[in-house]
Amino acid sequence: MGEGQETGHIPVLLAEVLAAARVQPGRRWIDGTFGRGGHTRALLEQGALVLGLDQDEEAEEAARALKARWPETFEFKRRNFKELKTCSIEHGWDWVDGVLLDLGVSSPQLETAERGFSLRSEGPLDMRMDQSRGRTAADLVNELPEKELSKIFYENGGEREANRVARVLVARRQRAPFRSTTDLAGVVAEALPHRRATGIHPATKVFQALRIAVNGEEEALLAALPQAVEIMQPGGVLAVISFHSGEDRVVKHFLRDRSSPWLDTPQRPNTLPNPQQHLRDVKRYLPTEEELVQNPRARSARLRVAIRNEESL
Ligand SMILES: C[S@@+](CC[C@H](N)C(=O)[O-])C[C@H]1O[C@@H](n2cnc3c(N)ncnc32)[C@H](O)[C@@H]1O
Repeated sequence: MGEGQETGHIPVLLAEVLAAARVQPGRRWIDGTFGRGGHTRALLEQGALVLGLDQDEEAEEAARALKARWPETFEFKRRNFKELKTCSIEHGWDWVDGVLLDLGVSSPQLETAERGFSLRSEGPLDMRMDQSRGRTAADLVNELPEKELSKIFYENGGEREANRVARVLVARRQRAPFRSTTDLAGVVAEALPHRRATGIHPATKVFQALRIAVNGEEEALLAALPQAVEIMQPGGVLAVISFHSGEDRVVKHFLRDRSSPWLDTPQRPNTLPNPQQHLRDVKRYLPTEEELVQNPRARSARLRVAIRNEESL
């Protein structure tokens, strides 16, 4: 039984990642979202050399067990994957064979009430993956202007009633600032009473939106994808798992822009060759029914994979 299973964490789309990765002993992989090491462990078991990155302190603790078992082939750095290239070079790797990003939060992060990600368990309104720095969700909810909050809810969460929610939160915080997850979830639910019947908590999108803003998730992804392509050697594999449509869109557009033979500008569609056609064989995978039975949390997961072109770096 793998470490992932021992800690109750099941790595998502693992079979698909391994099939796409075509790992061979000695191949260099960066797992930019180590989490509890589910994917890393599987790569190590296949003989890969793995550099694991994660900004979460608890991920660092989980990494110790893997380091004890694979002292020669595994290394962990507690870093943000937006520094992917720097981390790789610091590790002595100026090129790699593969990069994996399994985006978002891990199940243990979600399940630990004190981390503030869960709208159902009472905890401080924190939501920082890296708790050593940055503004918490409470800081944003209590301090940002109404318009900015509304923009975050709409753009990061796809919350169609973003204006209404922001207005209600700003009115409430003037009386008492938000401190806890369940307090915020309750006030959002009151602002959207017509949503209660849907079975999905009315604050789901607001919580997702705040988490993305607190952790600068889109900026980190936009920064990491070109770095991954830059350090991958020809034939290298880029694999990205996303969990919501916003981040999947970023990945999809990036892969399209880097694999298309033509520069597709509105002024001159498909007339200029794309000087950044660095990727090929772009593919998308969804969880199988079998995986969904074992791990219902995989439901919204999408894996996108591409191969680095053969040209020299
Ligand atoms: C979905 S979990 C990964 C689970 C992992 N694949 C496993 O099998 O255990 C995502 C992890 O990525 C980390 N993470 C998210 N964004 C990050 C970033 N920009 N830099 C570093 N770590 C990040 C989170 O802290 C979390 O531990």
